[in-house]
Amino acid sequence: MRQTIRRYSSRPVSESLLQSLLEEAARAQTMGNLQLYSVVVTRDAEMKQQLAPFHFNQPMVTNAPVVLTFCADYHRTTEWALQRKGHPGYGNFLSYQNAATDALLFCQRFCDLAESLGLGMCFLGTTVYKPLEIIRLLRLPKLVMPVATLTLGWPDEHPAPTDRLPATAYVHQETYAPVTPETIDRDFAAREALPENQEFVRINHTETLAQIFTDIRYSAADCEAFSAELLQALRRQGFLE
Ligand SMILES: Cc1cc2nc3c(=O)[nH]c(=O)nc-3n(C[C@H](O)[C@H](O)[C@H](O)COP(=O)(O)O)c2cc1C
Repeated sequence: MRQTIRRYSSRPVSESLLQSLLEEAARAQTMGNLQLYSVVVTRDAEMKQQLAPFHFNQPMVTNAPVVLTFCADYHRTTEWALQRKGHPGYGNFLSYQNAATDALLFCQRFCDLAESLGLGMCFLGTTVYKPLEIIRLLRLPKLVMPVATLTLGWPDEHPAPTDRLPATAYVHQETYAPVTPETIDRDFAAREALPENQEFVRINHTETLAQIFTDIRYSAADCEAFSAELLQALRRQGFLE
């Protein structure tokens, strides 16, 4: 069973292995076969130190042997088109969405392949919280947006698998089934009853598990602030007016 790995051994991830995994991952489905993505490989300790604050100093960034920043990329395709008498028009939100989809599919394919060889990784969603700083540090040109970061290495931990909601919560037959108080109770009961989650509620001094997410981890104020930076980054990179 796959699970997120946040602690890595000192065993190096060889460049040849990384390259072959990235090449194999490029077999992922991609819009028009355009491969609307790039990945920036970070191995240099100084670069990891500089990246870390943009991921809220999560220790994996400096501890992992490799950090990968996956980017939605219409820059290369646009430059190719311009040099070949094309008329590219990709400075819009639809094109960002398509390139982000491509980049995330490429990233997920990489994860599946790397995990099948025993490598471990952590997906960092913080990439879209502080995109402006990442853009500057990695020197991303217009029409390139960071969308995901992976910290990668050989595992030095074997965490217990995390729970998942039952399929009744997220599988709908033919049309979307209403979410009601009864379906909420049915689908969240097991999660809320987990001893680790009850402990989590206790130490966070909240009344419910949901409040840890809404009031502490992903508050409305934080989401609004990070959303503003994300929109600013999309404008800076030329994907929004
Ligand atoms: C969009 C997204 C953002 C995430 N961001 C972080 C993160 O910033 N830090 C972290 O430690 N894990 C992060 N994760 C990993 C999740 O915490 C993890 O997948 C989830 O808790 C389930 O655990 P599992 O992957 O071990 O099954 C992220 C995962 C996703 C898909």
